[in-house]
Amino acid sequence: MRVAHTTAEMRRQLKTLRGNNTIAFVPTMGCLHDGHISLIKEAKALADIVVVSIYVNPLQFGPNEDLETYPRPFERDAQMCEEAGVDFIFHPTSLYPKSGPKVTLKATKLSDCLCGSDRPGHFDGVVTVVNILFNIIRPDFAIFGEKDWQQLAIIRRMVNDLQIPIEIIGVNIVREADGLAMSSRNRYLSETDRQQALALSQALIAMQTLAAQGENNIETLKAAAQEILTAANITTQYLDVRNATSLKSKRKLNHLSSRAFIAAQVGSARLIDNMPLTYTPLEPTS
Ligand code: PAJ
Repeated sequence: MRVAHTTAEMRRQLKTLRGNNTIAFVPTMGCLHDGHISLIKEAKALADIVVVSIYVNPLQFGPNEDLETYPRPFERDAQMCEEAGVDFIFHPTSLYPKSGPKVTLKATKLSDCLCGSDRPGHFDGVVTVVNILFNIIRPDFAIFGEKDWQQLAIIRRMVNDLQIPIEIIGVNIVREADGLAMSSRNRYLSETDRQQALALSQALIAMQTLAAQGENNIETLKAAAQEILTAANITTQYLDVRNATSLKSKRKLNHLSSRAFIAAQVGSARLIDNMPLTYTPLEPTS
């Protein structure tokens, strides 16, 4: 495994190896866990060369967010990448000019809801950095987790709208045994926070169960989830059901694929989670 610390070095290393080889790329901010490793496994199954980037992107953090304190355990991350069979780590010190970028990308429609409303400018920072990384690595495939469903939906639109010739692959959420979605920010949770945080996945499962039983009224589904969250003393930033692709709001579940989303501040961590809702219409009684 090789590590490149500058864009020039990364470009040079890939130039000699690219040839007829395919490249799968996994962008991350480091502090890796099994969720990231499952993306790397998918990358290995897809392509000849696997590149992982580790870069805490300042452009996607708001003024009062955790940019400074975001964990950066590089040695441990590098070891995990080595064990997972990664070929290259791209670990740049910065990706922007010293005076700051003067040209950036903007994620419009899909970013004006869910995390986009709570974190203004966040997805503009994400699409800008991902586009920069795509231009440096020039992969055939790029792998993203469904954990950040809105991010995945926006990246899919980015490659579609800007005609970027990269195939975007989404990977299922990896969870702890008790259901908590793995996240680099889970390390901010105290023992008590950790117990409280379980209510997020439990609330989503309650919505899934009701939908599978034939409940299609979204207010009813949300009320069931809210009951679980309130019992755990969790105040949500959002609890929502939307079309999985367009992220448009819905009032009733229908044949189109729907997804339930939750974001909540638990202790000092902002946690997000989501699950698909499959509505099974009840058999008409004769
Ligand atoms: P980061 O939070 O490090 O996540 C990197 C990738 O890992 C994302 O695609 C994310 O969805 C995925 N991931 C995180 N937790 C996961 C889990 N429990 N199961 C499956 N996949 C999981 O997302 C970012 O970094 C940044 O926004 C980035 C895309 C790198 C741009 O800066």
